[in-house]
Amino acid sequence: MLFSTPLTIGNLTLPHRAVFGPMAGFTDAPCRDLMAAHGAGFTVSEMVSARALTYGDHKTASLVKAKPNGAPYGVQLFGAVPEDFAKATALLLEAGYEFDFFDINMGCPAPKIVGNGPGGAGSRLMLTPELCGAITAAVVGAAGDKPVTVKMRKGWDDEHITAVDCARACEAAGAAAIAVHGRTRQQMYTPGLVDLGIIRAVKQAVAVPVIGNGDINTAADAVRMVTETGCDGVMLARGPLGDPWLFERVNAALEGTAEPKAPNLQARMNAMRRQVTQMVEEKGEYVAMPQARAQTMHYMRGLRGAAALRRECCTLQYLTDLDRLIERVFEEQRRAGDEEDSRERPFP
Ligand SMILES: Cc1cc2nc3c(=O)[nH]c(=O)nc-3n(C[C@H](O)[C@H](O)[C@H](O)COP(=O)(O)O)c2cc1C
Repeated sequence: MLFSTPLTIGNLTLPHRAVFGPMAGFTDAPCRDLMAAHGAGFTVSEMVSARALTYGDHKTASLVKAKPNGAPYGVQLFGAVPEDFAKATALLLEAGYEFDFFDINMGCPAPKIVGNGPGGAGSRLMLTPELCGAITAAVVGAAGDKPVTVKMRKGWDDEHITAVDCARACEAAGAAAIAVHGRTRQQMYTPGLVDLGIIRAVKQAVAVPVIGNGDINTAADAVRMVTETGCDGVMLARGPLGDPWLFERVNAALEGTAEPKAPNLQARMNAMRRQVTQMVEEKGEYVAMPQARAQTMHYMRGLRGAAALRRECCTLQYLTDLDRLIERVFEEQRRAGDEEDSRERPFP
């Protein structure tokens, strides 16, 4: 057992230490609810532009809106200018949205984001640790009693490994926790490059909780992250997509409880259907179904005929198409397998 007490972040007590990382285009309310139901210690919105909020952009509300789901929920802001962050923070509080903490994006590598604003947003902020501190101070100053967390990378590139300096600046400005994705911006999402050493260095440099992130796809990956870095929690982003049970496996390993039973194929298909149905209820079929294509593809991982099934995911247009896809999933497993009905077979 690695942890016997819950993790606290400011005035929040997390139900578990494996948290769900923000992902633009994926972490909408149905996805966050699903992960919370499987044990995510907190969830975060898709990133929203601090500047757009100050312009009164209504689309932003749909990205932020949430009902309580049992796990603390944070709204993530991106931007380049401290004043935008302060205004956006105050506006979100005034608007009365239900959320528990603010999170600041200092990790996004997308050209559109790092080229945003006067000096660039997302991971570009990490080239200037003082700016990271000033932005954190701006949010903390306007956030009232809501904790402020920061999500950063290792640095910009091999010549600018600034996570320790940035984390110190954010902590001094009042950040309540720091999540570190162990790759530089230059490394984008290249597999195999997550540097546990930088996460350990940040943990040793600050007193607030540090959450380790990057390539945690199994319970063993999470245990390794904790034992090699000393981090206080782990952040999972892509791993639990289509496999929310990963939270149960990781939490069991970190908390020393019995390994949970693997879900069978029917359970996976039920989860997928519930998630997409909720998306349609909240956004309407026209908006939800194109977004559901990427979500459903993750549920095909490890299935027989996965390549063809993923192609079918790409064509989803109506909720009824999803039922056809599910039928085809079972059909493919039956055809390829030697058992009569793979519905009853535990999923590997
Ligand atoms: C499609 C996609 C969208 C992402 N969007 C965000 C985002 O909006 N804010 C953020 O801080 N990180 C974002 N990330 C980064 C993830 O939160 C996470 O740091 C990264 O994927 C590494 O963790 P993982 O290996 O568990 O996926 C995104 C990642 C992906 C793949």
